[in-house]
Amino acid sequence: MRAVPFAMEQPDRVPKQRYIDPDFFALEVEQLWPRVWQMACRLEEIPQPNDFVEYEFLDQSVVVVRTDDMGVTAFQNACRHRGVKVVEGRGTCARTFRCPFHGWCYGPDGKNTAVTQRRTFAEHNLTAEDLDLVPVRCEVWGGCAWINFDPDAPPVRQCLEPAATSLDAWKVESMRAEKWYACRLPVNWKLAIEAFVEMYHVVQTHPQLVIPAKFGLRKDEPFEPQAFIDADIQYLRAMSEGMDGMCHADDVRIAEGLRDVELPADASEAKATWNRTLNDAVMRWHRDAGHDVPDLNELDAQGINLTFFHAFPHYFVLPMYSSASAYRFRPLGPEETLMEIWSLARFTEGEEHARPTPPEVWECADPRWPAIPAQDFSNLPRQQKGLHAQGFEYMRLSTGLEGHISNFQRTVDGFLAGLPHERLLPALAAVNVYPFEQPMLDLGF
Ligand code: FES
Ligand SMILES: [Fe+2]
Repeated sequence: MRAVPFAMEQPDRVPKQRYIDPDFFALEVEQLWPRVWQMACRLEEIPQPNDFVEYEFLDQSVVVVRTDDMGVTAFQNACRHRGVKVVEGRGTCARTFRCPFHGWCYGPDGKNTAVTQRRTFAEHNLTAEDLDLVPVRCEVWGGCAWINFDPDAPPVRQCLEPAATSLDAWKVESMRAEKWYACRLPVNWKLAIEAFVEMYHVVQTHPQLVIPAKFGLRKDEPFEPQAFIDADIQYLRAMSEGMDGMCHADDVRIAEGLRDVELPADASEAKATWNRTLNDAVMRWHRDAGHDVPDLNELDAQGINLTFFHAFPHYFVLPMYSSASAYRFRPLGPEETLMEIWSLARFTEGEEHARPTPPEVWECADPRWPAIPAQDFSNLPRQQKGLHAQGFEYMRLSTGLEGHISNFQRTVDGFLAGLPHERLLPALAAVNVYPFEQPMLDLGF
């Protein structure tokens, strides 16, 4: 086990250098990122054979391609002749990727198909290992293509458990991107992630989500079914407009159409009746439209109707009724992060859709941000700056409210220490969960 600098020696204290020290960042680049599954693209970006996208991660570029016969594959984006990137951006290869420099050709599977003026090269430079693009492990799960540079890593689905099983029950693979946003955040990637994994900040940062009648905040007031329905609809609308689609506008309309349902007078019976009525109405509407939606009442019964799942290290899915938000975080440097937000919606099976294209990257203070990310983004640059204060040594985490941050950071340490995958899997299982109000867990290292 390698010694980790600025390690999480106390589970409730996060040393600030983990967010600002360039050597710590370099260690993550060396020991963490090449050993984890990275969400490389959404599958609807490559709907047809020969469609490809370039996935960039710091100084690495990987091409993800849908092939005719081998499913989705990936390879390193560097011509084996003199290293030119074979593709840039995204598109469809007309059966061949042709290097723009001297014209070497590769099939969609990365195999070399032509070396121009082949006779002029020595035999030892012409073996398949010399000529084919270097493959990258690529697996498909949850509507996304995932890559991993580590041949020893367990399969993606195993590394994303237990979130993978819950999200399969949510049928996330049958959602498609309807909206796609990107933000450049002047903060460390872990700081960006941690702004979203606790509810402690909601009262101060998102006051519009503090709706007393929904959350039973006024204990002295008698339960009022109509006030509860109105409050729930208000909450759904705030999540829909404030996130531009985490709760789909169609589902908000469906809920509004149920405003006048009769509910029992008892609070818990009323809430159960409302949930069931709304679930039924959402399912009926979407099934009538030919959408593949899960049985939302069954999700309730199994206790996996949770609205947030972390997929370590850098992907989140936040499902809600028929739809979801998804986030991806990519470091651009020690104190710079690219965060993307998708709004995912159900689509009619077999219908053709335009391939989503990457959005313009907005600054975090851009006035076009929807209300909820705008509020979260307003804190982040101030926090990254505040960390630099000489008198600030470490974050002080709430044991009751911020346990997930501790579990996440200590899992990072497991990778930095060079632990084998079998010892990391239990830690991944502690992090790939609903993050709110998680206890600080013993990860076994
Ligand atoms: S660098 Fe690609 S053909 Fe020369
Ligand atoms: Fe927030």
